Amino acid sequence: MKLFSSVHDVTDIKQFVQDALDLKSDPHAHAALGKNKTLGLVFMNPSLRTRLSTQKAALNLGMSVIVMNMDKEGWALETQDGVIMNGTTVEHIREAAAVMGQYCDILGLRSFPKLQSRDEDYSEDFFNKFVQFCGVPVISLESATRHPLQSFTDLITIRETWKGAGTPKVVLAWAPHVKALPQAVPNSFAEWMSKAQAEGMVDFTIAQPEGYELDEQFTGGAKLVYDLDAALRGADYVYVKNWSSYKDYGKVLPASGNWMLTNEKLRLTNNAGVMHCLPVRRDLELASEILDGPNSLVIREAGNRLWAAQAILKKMLS
Ligand code: CP
Repeated sequence: MKLFSSVHDVTDIKQFVQDALDLKSDPHAHAALGKNKTLGLVFMNPSLRTRLSTQKAALNLGMSVIVMNMDKEGWALETQDGVIMNGTTVEHIREAAAVMGQYCDILGLRSFPKLQSRDEDYSEDFFNKFVQFCGVPVISLESATRHPLQSFTDLITIRETWKGAGTPKVVLAWAPHVKALPQAVPNSFAEWMSKAQAEGMVDFTIAQPEGYELDEQFTGGAKLVYDLDAALRGADYVYVKNWSSYKDYGKVLPASGNWMLTNEKLRLTNNAGVMHCLPVRRDLELASEILDGPNSLVIREAGNRLWAAQAILKKMLS
């Protein structure tokens, strides 16, 4: 594997989930695989889980790790060609990415969307240029339109915790927020769940207010419901997440009704496990009574980020 940027980079998701669970049961089984290899993690935006879990995963495989907070500590990057760099940008991505590739055997990159131009964000221009110029394998640590490490983790968590008969009903439930957030997490979750549904692993529904429809390239095969209570009936997993509008790009649109998941709403479900990628705003996106209650899977889910990252690094090193 030379690139991990979406579910399309994985040939067999069932086997990939099993590989991650095998690593969870024996984290140091491949402790020499990454000897004398260096992982570079490049952050254009903040992170807690992605940063720490990916570092830990690399250490478990015997790798060295370098972290670069490019947004705070690096030179301001130019991404466009043909620009006379007489403004605020100091270094071109052509040189910056190529130089980082000289120091590292594998690179990870986090680059959020600006949410100003849908065409620009959905072109993944920055991420693609970084991949093109760095010359080494790349892991997405969340790009403008996808967060594949998170979605892989989410599938691992569902697979690991599902003890029922048959196929679990998984609901991606839009939640309120005060800020405009990217669509990367729900896009990616929808993409992974749609593939998992095609493989008979889940039954997938998206619940959202009108105006928050995601790009259909990610949601193909999902049921779409505009009534949260209706979607919650019979759900085995509820994946709570806010996102801004894709159609009215980057906008926070008014949503009628109560879209925050509470214990009262949770009673409509099949005693569902509640997931969120974190960070979460308590009692705005998700009720604290759920986060502090027995149905919350958020800490286990965050813990599983380690095994998702380790499975991908192992694949790249192998
Ligand atoms: N879920 C997630 O990616 O967390 P961080 O933004 O803290 O890395």
